[in-house]
Amino acid sequence: MTPKKSLVVDCDTGIDDALALLYLLHDPDVDIRAVTTVFGNTDAATAADNTLKVLELVGRQDIPVAVGALTNWRGTFYPAPDVHGDDGMGNTSLLPAPATTPTAEPAAELIVRLARENPGELHLLATGPLTNLATALLLDPELPGLIEHVTVMGGAIHHPGNVTPAAEANIYNDPEAARLVFQAPWEVTLVPLDVTMTEVLTEELATRLREHGSPVTTFAAAILEHYLGFYERDVFGIRSAACHDPLAAAIAVGDIPVVLAPTVAIDVETGDGPARGMTVADTRGQYRNFPSQEGAHVRVVLRTEGTFPDRLTARLCEASAPVPAATGGPAC
Ligand code: BDR
Ligand code: CA
Repeated sequence: MTPKKSLVVDCDTGIDDALALLYLLHDPDVDIRAVTTVFGNTDAATAADNTLKVLELVGRQDIPVAVGALTNWRGTFYPAPDVHGDDGMGNTSLLPAPATTPTAEPAAELIVRLARENPGELHLLATGPLTNLATALLLDPELPGLIEHVTVMGGAIHHPGNVTPAAEANIYNDPEAARLVFQAPWEVTLVPLDVTMTEVLTEELATRLREHGSPVTTFAAAILEHYLGFYERDVFGIRSAACHDPLAAAIAVGDIPVVLAPTVAIDVETGDGPARGMTVADTRGQYRNFPSQEGAHVRVVLRTEGTFPDRLTARLCEASAPVPAATGGPAC
């Protein structure tokens, strides 16, 4: 029997974070050991509340949820109600208030404790600003040697930013933390906008989810409404949305092939000019098949096949039987 992959998911549970969690929760080979939350799409406490609701939706209230950083180290944060709704869940109010509560243990401490208890086993998946991971690194400088791998959704390499011309939201929210995480001596896979903007959730996929009619797919379709509306209005001009965090989740657990993913040196701009939060990757080797760079330890995913959203939809449909009232609805 293949051993399960042990994950700690650190997220700012908005719409695509919730879809990433649902995707992972329906993978029998994945063991989510804890979810830690950070400010970002919404505040960290609301993100924890949203996470607990999602976990309760699938009966996984056994997974601990810890609240982490409320702001970056400068005391700021930029929520994204236009993208994720005021509640981070597309203003859906579909799920009941959670019966469970977050742990008393703060996120960074929980990450360190789990890493110490399970040396070499844990994969950290970060789909929000990197403040919790950076705080954990400061708490325990030996952390990199205890973690199996880190996957981060964030950054923009050859793609424009999405909050400024240069910067992607997760990195822009805390560039200093991101820099620390990329500099630490652990193996990191970075899943930037270059690929997440090419893996697109369409109106047709949202319809499949809605028509499937199970509690999980009904919830997924409902939160996608707001997300598709934002992307149609402000980004693509058609009802399609980027699949950021679910794609990073799938790559973290090795579910989809990456077509191009060189390991390169990477740094983050932390100055206050127009490039603040920019991820600067050394991709100058692109015409020579990316010769190895000494000390480089960040694998940057630059191309995927573009078919993941269909797989995500199928996973959510297969894993959740329709509610009785929806009998006769089309199968996904
Ligand atoms: C990232 O920012 C957030 O809005 C999303 O959840 C995703 O993690 C995309 O830039
Ligand atoms: Ca996120």
